Amino acid sequence: MIDLKDIRKVFNEGKAHALTAVDGVNLSLEARQVTVFRGPSGSGKTTLLSLVGCMARPTEGRIVLQDREITSLPERFLTEVRRSTFGFIFQQFNLVKGITALENVMLPAYPLGESHGSLKRRARELLDLFGILPRESSRSEWLSGGEAQRTAIARALINDPPVIIADEPTAHLDTKLSREFMDIVARLKASRKTVIIASHDPLVCESPVIDRVVTMRDGRIEAAGP
Ligand SMILES: Nc1ncnc2c1ncn2[C@@H]1O[C@H](COP(=O)(O)OP(=O)(O)OP(=O)(O)O)[C@@H](O)[C@H]1O
Ligand SMILES: [Mg+2]
Repeated sequence: MIDLKDIRKVFNEGKAHALTAVDGVNLSLEARQVTVFRGPSGSGKTTLLSLVGCMARPTEGRIVLQDREITSLPERFLTEVRRSTFGFIFQQFNLVKGITALENVMLPAYPLGESHGSLKRRARELLDLFGILPRESSRSEWLSGGEAQRTAIARALINDPPVIIADEPTAHLDTKLSREFMDIVARLKASRKTVIIASHDPLVCESPVIDRVVTMRDGRIEAAGP
């Protein structure tokens, strides 16, 4: 479903401190699989996720998403592809402070122009699905780590994207919450989502729900798993 062809990403190209973060990556990611990228700090995992998720453009190479070449799309279309295809879960969860859990979940859907009532109903359903509806009116900075994580997952799902991208999702969680996160990944997989994770957490990489482990080193793929 997602094909990466000869992808390179150079930061500060042409300058003395230029850095090649992703260096010649070729990879096909299958729909409805759970893939985890692992590798040492600085090996290019986050950079690669940002390219896959259309948050940044590669310096070289092509990305083909569902048979559509997206690398050369104008910004406006790329934003549209990003919004309709991907849900993001970040390491720090990146919830917006000062607004409630419910408002955080609704946020990514605002640009799509759905009626407030219908959007609110869907957002509450998602909070309920993850057992945090009682916290809907809590300001996001008052949520516990686990509640914040589940709010972030609900937010990633609000536009019903086929692909969920999670960058080090368990880095700030204890073992119990990390296991809960993997249970949620299993549920996402069962609901036919494609899940792409970057993590060096053994609890993630060795989970039975993972279909494929891709190991990165120095911006390259060292092993692409089964
Ligand atoms: N915006 C940027 N500008 C310059 N260099 C960057 C930028 N983003 C990342 N890098 C560099 O690119 C390399 C790859 O970084 P990246 O964040 O992709 O690694 P990572 O595998 O996700 O590491 P970690 O496990 O620590 O999260 C690093 O050397 C990093 O310093
Ligand atoms: Mg990273």
